[in-house]
Amino acid sequence: MRLFPAIAVAILLLPQSPAFGADLAHGRRLYLDPTLGNGTSGKCCATCHEQGRDLGPDLDQRTDFDVMGIAMKGLTEVVIFCIEVALRGERLEPRSQEMADLAAYLIWLGKEQRDPALPAAACR
Ligand code: HEC
Repeated sequence: MRLFPAIAVAILLLPQSPAFGADLAHGRRLYLDPTLGNGTSGKCCATCHEQGRDLGPDLDQRTDFDVMGIAMKGLTEVVIFCIEVALRGERLEPRSQEMADLAAYLIWLGKEQRDPALPAAACR
């Protein structure tokens, strides 16, 4: 796997790299936050996607998603859908820093399928 070293380096650099404009640690906090988008269901992303469950390894590549039988275009649209429907919150601005950080974390976690820094209890 020739690609692997490049991907590993990219992942290692991702949390700090301003070039990506995204903060993985902040993304993780949002992933665990049931008040994201003023959510009222008491759920956070980690409730259903514990340790990256159901997150594909190619979230940065895909444009077509199928979420519970609903076709969606792009990761941002899926994130907004899950916030509105699962967290019962309000949409994040697609171009916000929160969306950028959360999306970067989702992409990272989808590839890793495991994050030792995620707590055992789902949300916080
Ligand atoms: C109540 C459960 C639930 C919660 C909470 C939830 N989701 Fe989802 N999510 C789903 C389901 C169900 C799917 C569709 C899974 C499938 O069809 O394989 C999905 C799909 C996704 C996908 C597409 C994954 C893929 O590879 O196709 C992403 C990305 C995603 N959710 C992000 C989030 C984010 C970000 C949050 C928190 C803001 C969140 N989800 C909260 C249930 C949930």
